[in-house]
Amino acid sequence: MRRPFVCGNWKLNHNLEESCAALLEIVSTLPKDSKVECAVAPVVTLLSLACELTNASPLGIAAQNVFYEKKGAFTGEWSVAHLLELGCSYSVVGHSERRALFGETNQVVARKVQACLAGGLIPIACFGEKLEQREAGLFKSVVESQVDFILDVVDPDHIAQLILAYEPIWAIGTGKTATAEQAQEVHGLVRQLLIKKFGQEAANLVRVIYGGSANADNAATLMAQNDIDGLLVGGASLKPSSFCAIVEAAVPV
Ligand code: PGA
Repeated sequence: MRRPFVCGNWKLNHNLEESCAALLEIVSTLPKDSKVECAVAPVVTLLSLACELTNASPLGIAAQNVFYEKKGAFTGEWSVAHLLELGCSYSVVGHSERRALFGETNQVVARKVQACLAGGLIPIACFGEKLEQREAGLFKSVVESQVDFILDVVDPDHIAQLILAYEPIWAIGTGKTATAEQAQEVHGLVRQLLIKKFGQEAANLVRVIYGGSANADNAATLMAQNDIDGLLVGGASLKPSSFCAIVEAAVPV
């Protein structure tokens, strides 16, 4: 049985005061023995403080991005080790906004995933098709290719630490969630890719989470699907009460 994972992606939202208030409210609301593994990803400048405020709570902290090199002349970047020394447990990798706005290719995303796994940081590796690709019936081949790039760099010893996040681009920030059936179709395909590459037993360990206008109203329906193991939540994670309601909806029944 895979433990559900819910991560709030705050993107470029919440200043210092707002982030602290939200973190404290989430920590005080979440049950200490939560059956759901959960995390939020604040802006990078607030990661250190976020780790301190949530220390010894069930809420983990994720970075929204990380670089694959360990050190050197890479102005503006930070490494896996930098995130680990703050107390971060996860990093989002290859979010569609990074791919579209900051030129991250499948190769770059794969190197970042590889660096995370090698260093002991859990990557939340994102992939998903554009609206045109879905409408043209190409979504399966697009997803398969994006996931193949990621799986190709995963050492079988680290497979259980990998989190994959299916985020159809047309559903992100649009209020247009994929239906539970549309999402399950892709998650099922990803599970097959995992089985093909790592075998059934290993594939059963990997959490494949869904993102794209997930909220407190649709969370339970999405989570009821066989291969949806959690949620990556943008807009609806900004309000602590809404984030906590989503975590609650993800508790296995
Ligand atoms: P959204 O964003 O929930 O606001 O659609 C999800 C994401 O981009 O991770």
